[in-house]
Amino acid sequence: MPKGRKIVIASLFKGEPKVTDFKIETEELPTLQDGQILCEAEYISVDPYQRAYSQRHKVGATMIGSQVARIVESRSPDYPIGRHVVGYWGWSDRTVVDPAPKGEEVLPPMLVPDLGDLPLSLSLGVLGMPGATAYFGLLDICDPKPGETVVVSGAAGAVGSIVGQIARIKGCKVIGIAGSDLKVKWLKEELGFDYAFNYKTVNVDKALKEAAPQGVDCYFDNVGGEQSGQVIANMRHRGRISVCGCISTYNATKVPMAPVLQMHMVGKELKMEGFMVGRWWGRWDEAFTEMAQWIREGKLKYKETVTDGFQNTPQAFIGMLRGENLGKAVVKV
Ligand SMILES: NC(=O)c1ccc[n+]([C@@H]2O[C@H](COP(=O)([O-])OP(=O)(O)OC[C@H]3O[C@@H](n4cnc5c(N)ncnc54)[C@H](OP(=O)(O)O)[C@@H]3O)[C@@H](O)[C@H]2O)c1
Repeated sequence: MPKGRKIVIASLFKGEPKVTDFKIETEELPTLQDGQILCEAEYISVDPYQRAYSQRHKVGATMIGSQVARIVESRSPDYPIGRHVVGYWGWSDRTVVDPAPKGEEVLPPMLVPDLGDLPLSLSLGVLGMPGATAYFGLLDICDPKPGETVVVSGAAGAVGSIVGQIARIKGCKVIGIAGSDLKVKWLKEELGFDYAFNYKTVNVDKALKEAAPQGVDCYFDNVGGEQSGQVIANMRHRGRISVCGCISTYNATKVPMAPVLQMHMVGKELKMEGFMVGRWWGRWDEAFTEMAQWIREGKLKYKETVTDGFQNTPQAFIGMLRGENLGKAVVKV
């Protein structure tokens, strides 16, 4: 059997992860048993949850995460050689996988459908977990109506950039909040957001009062913290808030102070709901079919920030947490 490389946690993260918190190891791969497959990673995904799920970090263990890989050997009729799969077996370049592990809380490898002329890496982005997050988190929880105002934070990232465009497709006015002028320009000029602003240089409350003088109907919250408090203070009566993530706190070493939201929630009768995208696992295909159609019709655009080289996965991960990515951050193995 060939050898495989894996990136393991060398020390637990304190605050922002560092390159030295990781190390690369090479290992002999075991011989395939009945039912198992050998997968070669083509793209590795770097995602915020990999920082947030600190309870799953163990020194010496492979860093958690997903990848899209080609099946190069197979002893499973359900997973033929040559097909691609998305799997959650972490940062490794060659992996022997048991598609039906017992007693583990991981998703089974998902066979990638024929994407036609679309790149394979989209199965980690708009046609993968982040895309499903944007689609169901917005449509099922916020239920935006034509003419309503939708605000999305983390707007230039993998989830946020898709949320804003879906809201546009549904006939809403869309306001994006992101962390650089370049991101703001992309959202307005290429993705068709009605308004966008840089939360690092602009007062969020003031900007929202100008962009949405009647208030915000739907808020898709990727970042949490103070920024979200300011958006929630600008909601309209019976507004809906979809709580997707809280990236402003993932590197925090102490629980940050948060603004008091209850007066807004009560006075404006707001609805706020958190979610995990796995809730809609059985329906992900619905989202991918519709979004692939929108991409082909030119209604939905995607961008990827691609880092070259398996060994550079830690840098790509740290860069994504710092906001260096436009759209989905992936590593080309
Ligand atoms: N609930 C679910 O099932 C689910 C599924 C997928 C993702 N999520 C969540 O969705 C959010 C976005 O994920 P993603 O995959 O699309 O990542 P992403 O937005 O592509 O990348 C993370 C972005 O977070 C922003 N950021 C970093 N620190 C920040 C801070 N202190 N305040 C505000 N923004 C900050 C950066 O953009 P800026 O330059 O704009 O700061 C960075 O580009 C995350 O919170 C993630 O945990 C949830």
